[in-house]
Amino acid sequence: MVKIAASLMCADCLNLQKDVEALDRAGVDLFHIDVMDGHFAPNLAMNLDTVKQIRTVTKTPIDVHLMVDRPEAYFPALERLQVEYGSFHIEATTQPLRLTQNLKAQGAKAGIALNPCTPLETLHLFLDQIDFVLVMTVEPGFTGQVFIPATLEKLLALSDLIKTRNFKIDIQVDGNISIETGKACIARGASILVAGTSSIFTGAPDLYAACLNFRRQIGGA
Ligand code: DX5
Ligand code: ZN
Repeated sequence: MVKIAASLMCADCLNLQKDVEALDRAGVDLFHIDVMDGHFAPNLAMNLDTVKQIRTVTKTPIDVHLMVDRPEAYFPALERLQVEYGSFHIEATTQPLRLTQNLKAQGAKAGIALNPCTPLETLHLFLDQIDFVLVMTVEPGFTGQVFIPATLEKLLALSDLIKTRNFKIDIQVDGNISIETGKACIARGASILVAGTSSIFTGAPDLYAACLNFRRQIGGA
């Protein structure tokens, strides 16, 4: 079944615990945490100290998405957190192979993230090393952006590549994943949807209901 990764940068930061509890009741599969540095992505979102606090109020697996230059600098702190999923951008490091190996050694599922303009060819050497690919469907940095339609072709090409080479790799999509774009991504092989303001944090008063509705609408009730 397709997994829903709730993007906590879109949650109510004044009531984060309340949102985490509502999402847990609704059965989200992962908490997606965007860590930014203001350089790789022109914004700041959450940080690894926040991850530590979130850990104390939920048992749901945590998925850290490092949208930072030189992600290796964050690895000692990341390792102490023992997260279940970790990804970094291939554009941001000169040592991706070492980092995927490090993530696996930490016991995390290892993911490589690709910006919309980064070609799939960069992945060819790593397909036997990773558990998931994070395909950005907007430029990294901000919630509420417009979905880039060309990323759908990229998804299709990626799922073909994974099938052809017979790997078991999840495809995560991140950026303006709504009911409509989510379904289009699933049809092209996406198996983990990052759910932000376009799907569950819509501003509607009942986050729990919004989350259940999203799950039902994408066909995974
Ligand atoms: C984009 C972030 C996403 C974002 C998703 O830079 O990585 O996680 O918060 O939110 P929406 O659905 O608003 O694009
Ligand atoms: Zn993200």
